[in-house]
Amino acid sequence: MAFMAKALFPVTSELAINKRRLLRDLNAISRIGIGDHGSVTRLVFSIKELRSRQLLIHLMRQAGLKIHVDRIGNIFARWNGHNPKAPAVLAGSHLDTVVQGGKFDGPVGVIGALEALRTLKENKVPLRCPVEVVCFVGEESSRFGYSTLGSSLVAGEVQIEDLTHAVDAHGTKLEDILASMGIYRDNLASLTRDPSTIKAYLELHIEQGPILETKGKKIGLVTSIAAPTRFKAVFTGQADHSGTTPMEMRKDALVAAAKLITYIEEVCREFSAVEKGRIVGTVGAMKIEPGVMNAVPGKVELSIDIRSITAEAKDRVASQVKDRAAEIARARDIDVEILPIREELPVPLNEELLLLTKHICDQNGIAYEVMPSGAGHDAMQMAKITRAAMIFVPSKRGISHNPSEWTEPEDICLGSQVLLETMIRLANDEG
Ligand code: GLV
Ligand code: MN
Ligand code: MN
Repeated sequence: MAFMAKALFPVTSELAINKRRLLRDLNAISRIGIGDHGSVTRLVFSIKELRSRQLLIHLMRQAGLKIHVDRIGNIFARWNGHNPKAPAVLAGSHLDTVVQGGKFDGPVGVIGALEALRTLKENKVPLRCPVEVVCFVGEESSRFGYSTLGSSLVAGEVQIEDLTHAVDAHGTKLEDILASMGIYRDNLASLTRDPSTIKAYLELHIEQGPILETKGKKIGLVTSIAAPTRFKAVFTGQADHSGTTPMEMRKDALVAAAKLITYIEEVCREFSAVEKGRIVGTVGAMKIEPGVMNAVPGKVELSIDIRSITAEAKDRVASQVKDRAAEIARARDIDVEILPIREELPVPLNEELLLLTKHICDQNGIAYEVMPSGAGHDAMQMAKITRAAMIFVPSKRGISHNPSEWTEPEDICLGSQVLLETMIRLANDEG
């Protein structure tokens, strides 16, 4: 990295992160929840996910950081700078994963930030303000359909009503898990963090798409994050004997659901053709009742995720999907209920921080791409209470939420180094 004249509070580092240590710790985290074909499964609040957080706390303790774990399990590890009362620069991500995901979605941002902070601390780099590594709980929506849980709580973005339909595949309610941790409607606000204690939030993450690799760039600098509208469509027909019920007498909920699934693909494709790929729609989970070979399906629940970088496009498509669900149900004389899960607005990230990260890349001769993020991140929530920036590193063939997710170790290390430079500059600017 570039060298700048020595100053009391340097704004550019002469330091290199410890690549071996970063990759060693990333590897240790990725072994927790490892399954077939190198897949990783650490669903939020599972034993595996808890173990990954324990290991992280151990690493943070080894680094001599001051650790705070809030009531839901978000972890904050702090190194106080010159002025411990000043607002802190936060950097982090999450450790929970999807089912059979990869090793990098989340941990790269947590361990990458930890490595940057360890490097600053062990080299006793003078910092004007505190720097914290943060690990947010439950970024993935894979268990409850509810994403960025920990960061949403920190940002004060959770209403208990929003959690009504957040239920996992085994019928466990997110609300009940929160209650078991002593988190209720009345004390949700105690998890929020006073924005005046935060100077900025930085998140290093794998791109999870093909742009950087295709363009031969090493770093992505994120302008904005696409937001999801998520809801369930529950079709209720009638369960019947599959051998005796004539075709014309059936009220098959699965056939109705299948029509809606196909419609979602069609409408998003059509819309994207006109609007240049700006909308995506997915039915990623489905429950069928009774769900046996010899019964006409009586009830089907679809989990629907529609995302776009433009709110109007997303709202338009989401309402078309809901209208079509009603039409399909009417035509088949069955019922459909729409259960809202979460509706979010696309989030712009901070322009000043974007300029800063561009400048750091320019100074260090790093090829970067300025780009939006199609995936959701904790930065979406943090951007609501502070200045937020994201740094992407390339994903091989753009694959993510899949065991083949891969980012070159060198690229991960470069991302952590850019993060370190950004942390130093933010911690030591005079603003
Ligand atoms: C998080 O990975 C998401 O679903 O975008
Ligand atoms: Mn993910
Ligand atoms: Mn992620």
